[in-house]
Amino acid sequence: MRVIASVAAMQRLAGQWRNAAKKVAFVPTMGYLHAGHVSLMERARKLAGPKGIVVVSIYVNPTQFAPHEDFTKYPRDFKRDAALCWKAGVDVIFTPSDPEMYAPDFSVYVSEDRLAKFMEGVTRPHHFRGVTTIVAKLFNVVLPDTAIFGAKDFQQAAIVKRMVRDLNFPVKIVVAPTVREGDGLALSSRNKYLSTEERREAPVLLLALQTAQAAVAARPVFGAKLKKKIQQLIATQPSARLDYVEFFDPQTLEPLAIVKKGAHMALAVYMGKTRLIDNAEL
Ligand code: PAJ
Repeated sequence: MRVIASVAAMQRLAGQWRNAAKKVAFVPTMGYLHAGHVSLMERARKLAGPKGIVVVSIYVNPTQFAPHEDFTKYPRDFKRDAALCWKAGVDVIFTPSDPEMYAPDFSVYVSEDRLAKFMEGVTRPHHFRGVTTIVAKLFNVVLPDTAIFGAKDFQQAAIVKRMVRDLNFPVKIVVAPTVREGDGLALSSRNKYLSTEERREAPVLLLALQTAQAAVAARPVFGAKLKKKIQQLIATQPSARLDYVEFFDPQTLEPLAIVKKGAHMALAVYMGKTRLIDNAEL
């Protein structure tokens, strides 16, 4: 396994792989890796095949954090991350520094203007512009055939797919299922911020998804009514505060007035100061 920090070196190597017709599967991450990330690497290993190459990027991207968010305290542990990558059969870790990725007078961004307006985009208005910009840059550096994203960040995956379609990136996007703890909490690098009490209450997000699934199983229901039910459920947990819950079309992300089986649900909940997200098909 090689660790590369320079854009020029990564791009040179990627060019050689392309000339040798090697398949490249890529997993972009911000590090502090957990079993969710590992499942994406394992998927990448399968997609690349024994002769192909698996690249993981570890880079906490400053442009997707707002000034008041947790950029500086975002957890980092390169040694542990590298060991997990090695175990998962990763060939190259690309881990650039900030000056390597962003020139001091950096001035070109990639933004998606429709899907990024909903849900996460309301609370985090510049977040997805940072995500599409860094993912576009990483694709230009790593030159992957396939990139694997997690369903945990459903809106992010939808926006990346839209970027690839609309800007004609020659990259196939694969979305892999959410990996959860035994009690249903979706794995996230940010779970480390939770206090014992908040951690105990955190499975309420999955419970909310399951409650909505049960509610629409027999017949369609009004979105407004279902929202109320979810609000009440979240309010039963003392540390929890609902940021949003939405029912939407999984392709367009447009909100639905009437929610049927097959619709998608996403929610964001503050557990104390930590903001958790989750989603599922209903
Ligand atoms: P990060 O939060 O590190 O997540 C990297 C990838 O892992 C994303 O595709 C995310 O959806 C996936 N992932 C996270 N938790 C998961 C879980 N429990 N199960 C399955 N997959 C999971 O998302 C980002 O980084 C950044 O925005 C990035 C795309 C790297 C751009 O900076």
